[in-house]
This record gives sequence, structure tokens and C-alpha cells, in this order.
Amino acid sequence: MKKLLTICFVATTFGMTMNAQPKLSADNIDEVLKAMTLEEKAKLLVGGANNFFSANAVVGGEATLVAGAAGTTPEIARLGIPATVLTDGPAGVRINPTRRGTDQTFYATAFPIGSCLASTWNTELVGQVGQAIGNETKEYRCDVILGPGMNLHRNPLCGRNFEYYSEDPFLTGKIAAAYINGVQKEDVGVSAKHFAVNSQETDRTSVDERLSQRAAREIYLRGFEIAVRESNPWTIMASYNIINGTHAMGNRDLLTSILRDDWGYKGIVMTDWIGIRQGLTTISEVQAGNDLMEPGQPAQVQEIIDGVKNGKLAIADVDRNVRRMLEYIVKTPSFRKYPASNKPDFTAHAAITRQSANEGIVLLKNNGTLPWKNIKSVALFGENSYDFLSGGTGSGCVHPPYVVDMLEGLKNAGIKSSETLTDIYRKYIAYARVKFQAERHPAKWFQTEAMGQQKYPEISLSPIAVEKEVRGADAAIITIGRQAGEGIDRDIETEFNLIPEERQLIFDVCQAFHAAGKPVVVIINSGSVIETASWSGYPDAILCAWQPGMEGGNSIADLLTGKVNPSGKLTMTWPIAATDHASTKNFPGALDDYSLMQMLGNGQPIPGHAYTNHEEDIYVGYRFFDTFKRDVAYPFGYGLSYTTFEYSKPVVKAKGQTVEVSITVKNSGSVSGKEVAQVYVAAPKGRLEKPAQELKAFAKTRELQPGESQTLTMTIPVRNLASFDEANSQWLTEAGTYTFRIGANSRDIRCTAEAKLAEYTEQTSNALAPKQKLNLLKQ
Ligand code: BGC
Repeated sequence: MKKLLTICFVATTFGMTMNAQPKLSADNIDEVLKAMTLEEKAKLLVGGANNFFSANAVVGGEATLVAGAAGTTPEIARLGIPATVLTDGPAGVRINPTRRGTDQTFYATAFPIGSCLASTWNTELVGQVGQAIGNETKEYRCDVILGPGMNLHRNPLCGRNFEYYSEDPFLTGKIAAAYINGVQKEDVGVSAKHFAVNSQETDRTSVDERLSQRAAREIYLRGFEIAVRESNPWTIMASYNIINGTHAMGNRDLLTSILRDDWGYKGIVMTDWIGIRQGLTTISEVQAGNDLMEPGQPAQVQEIIDGVKNGKLAIADVDRNVRRMLEYIVKTPSFRKYPASNKPDFTAHAAITRQSANEGIVLLKNNGTLPWKNIKSVALFGENSYDFLSGGTGSGCVHPPYVVDMLEGLKNAGIKSSETLTDIYRKYIAYARVKFQAERHPAKWFQTEAMGQQKYPEISLSPIAVEKEVRGADAAIITIGRQAGEGIDRDIETEFNLIPEERQLIFDVCQAFHAAGKPVVVIINSGSVIETASWSGYPDAILCAWQPGMEGGNSIADLLTGKVNPSGKLTMTWPIAATDHASTKNFPGALDDYSLMQMLGNGQPIPGHAYTNHEEDIYVGYRFFDTFKRDVAYPFGYGLSYTTFEYSKPVVKAKGQTVEVSITVKNSGSVSGKEVAQVYVAAPKGRLEKPAQELKAFAKTRELQPGESQTLTMTIPVRNLASFDEANSQWLTEAGTYTFRIGANSRDIRCTAEAKLAEYTEQTSNALAPKQKLNLLKQ
């Protein structure tokens, strides 16, 4: 009898387990977790490229889900866990525009690149761009867009600066939070990347970024902290590099102590796209708090299984990460079975692109020639006038349905362009394209058309050919193009500086057109900062258009003709020479002897043997130039308008844990326009060294009519005035009198006011301490 009962009990229990296959829902996550086998758990922590378990591998090509998307998480059908799809980002959805077996196309709107978007200083507009990107993500059956790119412009030579926002962490955080809130309004997620200190492409998977805890917290992590606190990104992507001796992807200090314990982050962390890495185990990534290994390899699944079986990895760590993955999955469109249309609204999104580029393009110089009133025909110079760069290369490129170049943009605005020049440049571009592909350097493997590569060397035109154009044109435009991207940093000689052909072109065109009393405008079509000081005296106006997305030519024409008044402001300092930044001394770092020896053998530096000492410490960008009083070409926050603005006396009031700053901005000119008021704070002398001033608030006015005013009120938490006090692992706002300097850029302060503040402190974890002594820059 007893035996029979036991059999019945075992059978019932067994039967229950077999039958009770819970299907995932938002309120049975624990139950599903309990029902998962170790293999299923391991599988969920490793991206879907592991076709050992799943057919959903999509990396780099044709796929069963979304061709050209960057990665997936695997499906576990038994438990109702769908595959989810992750796509690049950040300037739009990057998927393959065509697919095998169908004539349908899958182009995506190319929105302005990060630097252009941030230059709007308009968080509401950035939110609209984010929402449009979120919508395309969802309509193309993806769940997460791999962006925003939030690394700091530590140096103008970083190849990916175009994807990133600024040299300032506060501005970066605010723009990123606006983008994230916009994307996530569409019920899809973002992956804020690359967490963290990933400001160079050289040796990006092996370089050890050595920096002080203060520079880490105040400069490189601050933007991420703001984004986490203000927009709760669904996912964060851990960067390839090492930080103070530990890979970011396996860095518990970074991914748990700071991100989750100090900031309260609740979403998932994924790796950047590397799979198994030299010098780092998947086990240590799981333990550090990395929830998803991308793009995923079968061996990583096995490592997790073996790790649990042999006691090297606690099942509690696995369960913690799996739970976070399930919490992510139940939020996704894939889970909701959202019926993706594969048909984004290009018309609506083109309008958002055009408007955001209108506000992100920065007028650097204007001797009064702009806006153009009576210009009917233009001589259009520079190959990128006809092959306009809408974005950068690498994973940050987008395949748009069209790109409006300068020729078309001007035509749409009713301005004719020289047919002779059009013919010359179009023939040259066709030739250069073929030549470039034939001669492509194998080391520059990202530089293919599929990866967005489109920039060819500038052509020389004889002074006689230039001269011939003067008669038929009312004005000249010269477009100077630059394109960079993932995997490689920029060089000074041909990418930061102008090449001799470009210099000569500017000189010849200015000479010929000025002799006939006709104006010349230079359009900078670049993702990043270039040298301007040596030639900016020649043209009448310079417009930094960045890579403004697929409506670029229209956006620029709007500004040239005065249909829109420029209101973009630089989010990074434009130095006179590339080497003027304090970071230059250590950009892109050094290789030690051991690594150099390895490189002779196999071309790869050894992890930890390529390093970058952040000796400039917190003195990045204007924090360096303004504190050490160095001349610049264009300061941080700079940008001209066709009108002028007057700033009233500010009102600054300390209110408990915040300071309220109010300023009235009046349009004192004769055309309508928008102004960005910027609040820089100078701290009292105290125990911790401080930069001369730091951006702590900003606000953009609405379109003000001539004579119209608007009062802007900005609230600054006292916490945001704090510096990181390493000795006590705390944020510290020292007591004393703070000066609030309000202006139109970091070097055009229009008014100041003071407020006395009491001390504020906030304890943090003691994380990311450097292992070497660094020779830090001091005042
Ligand atoms: C890049 C990421 C990108 C990922 C997927 C990596 O090489 O660093 O920014 O999201 O690839 O394409």
C-alpha cells in the first residue's frame, strides 16, 4: 500500500511538473524562473547568435527575424519566452535595406547624428526624434535600439564622436534622457552605450583606461547617472575597454556597486558585441551583473552551465540575471506580439529630421551675408555638395531611403546650381567610388558602403575652372566633408586639418568670387570637429551642418535662405589645433614594451598592455580651456543667430536643496529666433580643486518675435554642484558663495548672480579605484 502511495505521489508530482509549463507573463516571472532548466537559464543570458540552440542568429546578415539587426535574445517556446531583437542605433534603425526573396525595401529614416542632435540644446525636440526612432524600431519588429551613444568627446580625434553628444557630462545626460524617454514612449527599449570611459577607438577592446575615481564619477559616468535617474533605460551596454585594470563588461564595481547600488538601476546590462573575450570569463561577467552576452556563442552557454555544476558560479547569480532578463522581455513588443508593419511613416519622420537638423546646425561665422535674400544661382563646390554625408560609418550608420544633397536642397528652395560643376563632380564621384572600393585598405574593414562609407578625397579644380563659375552665379558654396566611425580614430593631417586640395579650393573660390563682390559660404559636413582657425578668415559665412540626416540639403537651405534662423550651439570646444586639448598627451594612449613585442608578432595588443592614462583628469573640454585660459577657435556653447538677444538681470534663489535661476531673454534684433541660455557655475575655493566654471543648467526659448521676451526658470539641485570627494567616497558640495554665470556660450557670459549654500554630502560606494599612481593635471 505504502509503495503504491509513493508511486502515486511521485507520478502526480512528476505529472504536475511536466504539465505545469507556465507561460511567461508580467506577474508570473518567479514561477517561470522556477520552471526553467539550467540550460534554458544559461541560454537566456547569452545572445541568440548561438544557433547551437536557436535558429535566430541574425548577426551581420540574412536572418529568420530581422535581416541586418545586430542581435537577438533566444526564444524558449516551451515557457512562452519569445526571441527579442536588438538593432543599431543610434541615429536611426540600422537593418539591411533589402532582403532575399522579396522586392520590398526596409530603409530607415536617417536622423541627425548625436553631435548634431545635442547641438539643438532642445530636449523636447530630441524627445520627438527619440519617439520617431522608437516607432521605426517597433515597426521594423525590433525591441531595442542600441543607443544613445553617450561617451564623452574626450578628444576631437575619437572616430565615434559623431555618435556621441558632447564634451560635457551634464549636457550629455540631459540630451540622452530626452532621447531615451522619447524612444521608450513607443514601448520599445534603448541601450545606453558604451558604459563606460570608451572615448577612443584605438585598441578599444584591449585598452586599459586608467583614471581617477573623481574623473570617472564626475566626467565619464555622470551622463549615464543622469540618464538612469531621469529616464530609466531598459538596457545599458557595457563597453569593450578595461577600466582601472578590470574589463568594463566584467566590472562589478561599475555594473553593480555604482550602477545598481548607488544609482538604483533596475534594467539589464548587455555586453558590447564581442562574445568570448581574451582575459575575461563569462562567469565573471555574470557575477559582475552583466545580464546578456552579445552577440552570444554556444561556448558561453556551456561555460555558465559548467560553472554552476562545478560550483564556480552561484545559481543565485544566474537567477538574479535571468529574472532581470524576464522582466525586460515582458515589456517588449515581441512579447506583446506587436504586429510590425515594416512601413515607417517616412513623411512624418522626414519633417522631424528636417526640424531637428534646422536646430542642430551651428552658424560659426557670418559677416552679414546670411540669410540670403537675392541669391538665385550658386556655384556649388566640394564633392560632398553632390554626395552629401547624412551620417557616419560603422554600426552607427543608417540606410535611408534617400539623402537630400546640397544640389537638391537648393533646388527645392528655388536656387539654381552650376551645371558644369554638377557634371564634373558627379563624374568624379562615380569614378572615386569604384577606385575606393578597389583600393580599400584591409585594416579599414569598416569602410565599406554597407557600413556607410561614402567619403572620397576632394578633387582639385584649376583656378581657371573656378574663375569661370563666377559669372553665372550670385554666390558660391563650398562643402567640406568628413566621415569617421567605429573601429578607427581620426588622424590630424587628413581628417582634423584640411587637406591641401580643400585649402586651395577655399582660397581660389574666395579670391575669384570676392573679386566680383560675390559671397562665399563654407558648409562643414562632418561628424566631428575640424580645424578652422587657419582658413575661417576667407569665407563670408561658415555653417557647421554636421551630418544632419537624410533631409540635410533641405535643412541647410532653410537656414541659408532665412526660412529658419539658426539656433544650434556647439556642444564641444573647437580648438585651434587638434593638439590643444590636455588629453592629447595621452590620446589614444600608450603600449608598453610587452605589448609592442606582441604586436610585432600578431598585430594585436595584449589586454591590459595598451593603456590610456587620463592625466588631464577632470579637465576635459572647456573645463581645461576655460580653467587654464587657452585660446580656442570656437568656445563650448557657441553659435550665431540672425538676430540678437538681451539678457535681463538674473534672479538666483537658494530654496532648500535646490537653486532656482531665472533670466529673461529678449529678442533685441529684427527677425524671430530662439536662444539657448546657459548657466555656468563657479564654485568657492574649498578643499577640492574645481574647474573655473561648469555647465549646470540650460534652457532654450521658444521662437521669439522681434521685441518679444521669455523668462526661463531653471532649477539646479545642490547635489548637481557637488564634486566627487575620493578620500571619503562621497559627493561633496562645499559650503560657500557660488557664482551663477549666465550667458550665450562659455566665453560670452552676459550676467552673474551669487548664492550662499550650505554643505551637502552624499555617500557612495568606494568603486573603481585606480591601480597605478597617475600624474594628474593640477591648477
Ligand atoms: C559597437 C556597438 C554596436 C554593436 C552592435 C559594436 O561593435 O561598438 O556600438 O551597438 O557593435 O552592432
